[in-house]
Amino acid sequence: MIEVAGPNAEQIRYWNEVGGPKWVALGDAISASIRPLGVLAMDRAGIAAGERVLDVGCGLGDTTLELARRVGAGGSVLGVDISAPMLERAREDARAAGATRVAFENADAQTAALPGLFDVLYSRFGVMFFTEPEAAFANLRRALRGGARLAFVCWRPLQENPWLHVPAMATARHIPMPQAEPHAPGPFAFADAARVREILSRAGFVRIHHEPLDRELLVAGGRSLDETVDFLLQMGPSAAALREASPTPAVVDRVRAAVREAVAPHDGPGGVRMASAAWIVTAAVD
Ligand SMILES: C[S@@+](CC[C@H](N)C(=O)[O-])C[C@H]1O[C@@H](n2cnc3c(N)ncnc32)[C@H](O)[C@@H]1O
Repeated sequence: MIEVAGPNAEQIRYWNEVGGPKWVALGDAISASIRPLGVLAMDRAGIAAGERVLDVGCGLGDTTLELARRVGAGGSVLGVDISAPMLERAREDARAAGATRVAFENADAQTAALPGLFDVLYSRFGVMFFTEPEAAFANLRRALRGGARLAFVCWRPLQENPWLHVPAMATARHIPMPQAEPHAPGPFAFADAARVREILSRAGFVRIHHEPLDRELLVAGGRSLDETVDFLLQMGPSAAALREASPTPAVVDRVRAAVREAVAPHDGPGGVRMASAAWIVTAAVD
């Protein structure tokens, strides 16, 4: 594990002690839910055979492997992440897949000297956790060659994401919801397109474009309603509230029942389908 120090110490601790083990346990369900969004961002990046790609906040590395398939034998992909448990799984999966042009580095993308130069910077929901996003993107920019492209997917506001907002509202009927600063590092830190445009522009990116992406997610990849409710209690604001409040088992049961009731209308053949809202952000380096 990288040292728990520096500007992102809180996130490093979180993604090693809390978020990482949870993502390792829920990996298949998470990936099945959000995979289509990451694939669309890859499509927008227009990745070509032979390119060098940097996958920022690569987590369990499923995007890294998909990127490696796209660049082929002549290209390479480096996945960077601060979470040791997630990278351990990523390395295992890469070995099992026989991927040879893939490497993973346990490093803070905001501050690490990255072994550039890359043709493409890609991320699926891995760039919203920097305490100093402008410094982070300036650092990432230094790892890109002239003419390189950037493509990442990030969430629009919670209120536009019923798959997380509906469970959050149900949870809030029973326990207090932590009030996060709107731009604090976290899943919704890049919801404001104007702010992100400013961050990227100051970091030296050009031709910055936000594409709204409104997609129904197959939440938890089509598991049963009860399994999906358990999944949703471990994601986003509901999970943060449960962690902070540490309620009694009786209160947890009431939260679970409330979330089940709120999500049940979205259950149907094949699983729970709920709306999501994201941005695909693309940009370039001159
Ligand atoms: C929401 S998860 C997304 C993981 C993965 N990209 C996916 O879509 O499954 C966010 C990821 O960003 C990583 N992360 C957060 N801050 C980071 C930083 N400063 N440098 C590198 N990775 C970071 C976390 O460890 C975590 O793996």
